[in-house]
This record gives sequence, structure tokens and C-alpha cells, in this order.
Amino acid sequence: MSEGHSGAGFPARGIAYLDRRFVPMEEAKISIATHAFNYGTGCFEGIRGYWNSEREEVYLVKLQKHFQRLLNSTRLFRIDIGHDLQQLCDVAIEVVRRTGYREDVYVRPIAYKASPVIKVGLLHLQDGFCCFSAPMGAYFDITRGLVVTVSGWRRNDDNAIPARAKATGGYINAALAIADAQEAGFDEAILLTGDGHVSEGSAANIFLVMSGKLVTPAVADDILVGITRGAILELAAKLGVPVVERRVDRTELYVADEIFLCGTGVQIAPVTKVDGRAIGEGKMGEITRALQDLYLAAVHGEVEEFMDWLTPVYANRSR
Ligand SMILES: Cc1ncc(COP(=O)(O)O)c(C=O)c1O
Repeated sequence: MSEGHSGAGFPARGIAYLDRRFVPMEEAKISIATHAFNYGTGCFEGIRGYWNSEREEVYLVKLQKHFQRLLNSTRLFRIDIGHDLQQLCDVAIEVVRRTGYREDVYVRPIAYKASPVIKVGLLHLQDGFCCFSAPMGAYFDITRGLVVTVSGWRRNDDNAIPARAKATGGYINAALAIADAQEAGFDEAILLTGDGHVSEGSAANIFLVMSGKLVTPAVADDILVGITRGAILELAAKLGVPVVERRVDRTELYVADEIFLCGTGVQIAPVTKVDGRAIGEGKMGEITRALQDLYLAAVHGEVEEFMDWLTPVYANRSR
């Protein structure tokens, strides 16, 4: 996702949360000496809310799962977030509710090392937590296929900067890969693990369709264990499509019947070309389409069976 204040991103707005207070976004400021700004010592989440105009409701998707992952990241990075799971969910709901969104939204909570000190480490530092939001439509045009390349940059290793934890500093790896891919005219980069197996995209997990089965890199292949990836496992079970989680060779990308990327931002985005080779028939495949349709219906609150994925903001009933 291109972020920031240029026209290319999704500018943050409305009411933010910082130091246990809800404040207008313009007042949510931290020092340039903040440890996390200097050393990347933060971890974060990206949570989507979908506007359902019929019910006049914003549905936050898999809210508890996102904050559970944030709590896991904070354990790894020794950050005391100072809020329990329910309090974190309530902050996200309030940020959206107080801003008054009547459109799709993206919520960004960050837990971070807040001390204004020059010292590498994680111990004996103050911890901070903030949360803000931005309106967000499609990250990619998911009706057309993405043209991707296998990046020369390798995914950061679990024993270097664990991808399992969504660390702010770790995203320099994704940034290098996507920037070089875009400069070379591709939409997205696929990163390999240090030992050359498929890991994931710059901000998305990857699935291949091979002989009617879904194949996706296992959780030990230096991936962020995506919440959307988990949702796809549920959708595949409903559609009766078998899923295999295993190591994936680079060349399997070139011979797959279908490929798609998935994530909170990208949703379910078909890939139709990898390194100049057309995937399948060079257009969105049938299984990708079925999963995309069901996913988009579910996150908009149109599938009864998956309503427990959603937390309504305005009815404010946490599920
Ligand atoms: C590196 C990376 N992998 C995978 C994902 C997908 O994760 P999720 O489905 O939880 O959004 C993301 C999402 O932002 C990501 O940044």
C-alpha cells in the first residue's frame, strides 16, 4: 500500500487514539526522538471495516483476531500495550465511530517503544499505543489480474526479524521488494525465503491453485500468518476445495493453474502473470473468482454463516 500524505495513499483523518485519549488526528503527535521512529521498534495491525449502506453499518473484519495477533507481536517485542483484548477492540470501534465513517475504512493500531532515548534494545523503555484510521477503497483493482515478479530481495528470516510478528521495522524488507518491482513495471513482488522457497507478497499471502487444490506456503515459511489467509481456509472448506499448506517451489508459480494474493488490504487479488509467464488462461480463474465473491459477500455482512467474522461499529455490539 502506498501510504502517507501524497495523492497516492489513503490520508488518515478523524479521531485518533494516543496516550489513552481520543484526540483529533492533527493533535496525535509524537516526538522525533521516539525509539520506534529511530529503530523500528513497533508492531501494528491493519484492520478493514466495510460499509453496508442498507444497514447503515460499518463491519470491522476479524477484529479480535487482529488484536490477538497484535498481542502476540507485543509479547515477542516485549511491549506492554497496557490494554486487554476487549479494550483494544473498543478503541478501534471508537476511532471509527467517533470519526463517523459511512464508507470503507482501514484501522491502524500501533504498539511501540515510546521513550525518547538513543539506545538500541527493548528493555527499560516506555511503551506506547496509538490507533488511527483512513478511508480505504481497493488497494489493487481486484477485477483484473496482477502482473508480478519474484523479487531478488529475500523475505526476512524468523531468526532475523520474525515475519510472524507484524513489526514496523520489518516492513523495510517489503518496501525494498515492492519498490523495485514497481520500478520495473510490475504490480507486486513475491518474496522467497532465504533458502529459495515461496514465502509471500510485500503485504499479502499467496495461494496457488493446482489440480483443483489450493496450495499455500506453510506458517514456518517466513510468512505473516494472515488473518485473510485464515478466512480463506474457512471459505475453501465451505466451497469443498482442499487446501495444502506446504513448501512451495519458485517454479510452481510458473506452472500453477491459478494464483491469487490475499490480505486485509489486497482482499483477494488474482495474479495472471509471473515473470512474463501467463498463469492458467491469463485471466482470473474459477476458484479464485468463487473465493473472491464469497469473501466480499462475507465481509459486507451478506453471508449469515460468516457474520461472526464481523463487529458492527454503530450497533457497537462486540461479538
Ligand atoms: C507481509 C504481509 N503478509 C501477509 C499479509 C496479510 O495479512 P492479513 O490477512 O492479516 O491482512 C499482510 C497484511 O498486511 C502483510 O503485510
